[in-house]
Amino acid sequence: MSEEDRRRWDERHREGGGRPAPPPVLAHVVHLFPTEGTAMEVACGRGEAAVWLARRGLEVWASDVSEVAIGAARRLAERCGVAHRCQFQVHDLDDGLPSEPPVADLVLCHMFRDPRLYGPMAERLRPGGILAVATLSEAGGEPGRFRARPGELPDAFARLEILEAGESEGRAWMVARAPST
Ligand SMILES: C[S@@+](CC[C@H](N)C(=O)[O-])C[C@H]1O[C@@H](n2cnc3c(N)ncnc32)[C@H](O)[C@@H]1O
Repeated sequence: MSEEDRRRWDERHREGGGRPAPPPVLAHVVHLFPTEGTAMEVACGRGEAAVWLARRGLEVWASDVSEVAIGAARRLAERCGVAHRCQFQVHDLDDGLPSEPPVADLVLCHMFRDPRLYGPMAERLRPGGILAVATLSEAGGEPGRFRARPGELPDAFARLEILEAGESEGRAWMVARAPST
């Protein structure tokens, strides 16, 4: 990512206060998320979902390109008493997924899209692990290079068992399970 883009994200993350919360576009399907084991969240922003996952019992590895966001996420985890279950890291996803954790029971990517990461995210799942993705979409929204095309998520993750998927009003989401062997 360019330095200019990184600074823009830093500025956005300086505003607003965070509190633990399920990822909004996936809030109706969080009953499908595991409550124990290891989670990897990419593009975690200020850590609201990561800390929410840690409070549910998961060991969370979360990353974002913005140092401001990661600083806020670490403070939120401290305030909520789950810093011991959260590993936050500044990481640019243009370089691929972070190397940790090596396998995950849950991979979460909420409102960030990079189709180059679809394969690696699926491969990071433990057998039976859950992938949860939400992104801007052209379905019911405007066309654009940051938006998933209609049907993109089910197509990209066809080798997983799709548990829930939808697209409307400019959003697409999916929860899918890795094969158990
Ligand atoms: C729309 S926000 C979503 C944040 C969070 N997942 C949420 O739903 O609140 C997109 C996030 O992606 C991060 N981001 C953008 N480009 C990135 C990159 N190349 N590598 C890692 N994070 C990136 C931004 O800093 C921002 O936190």
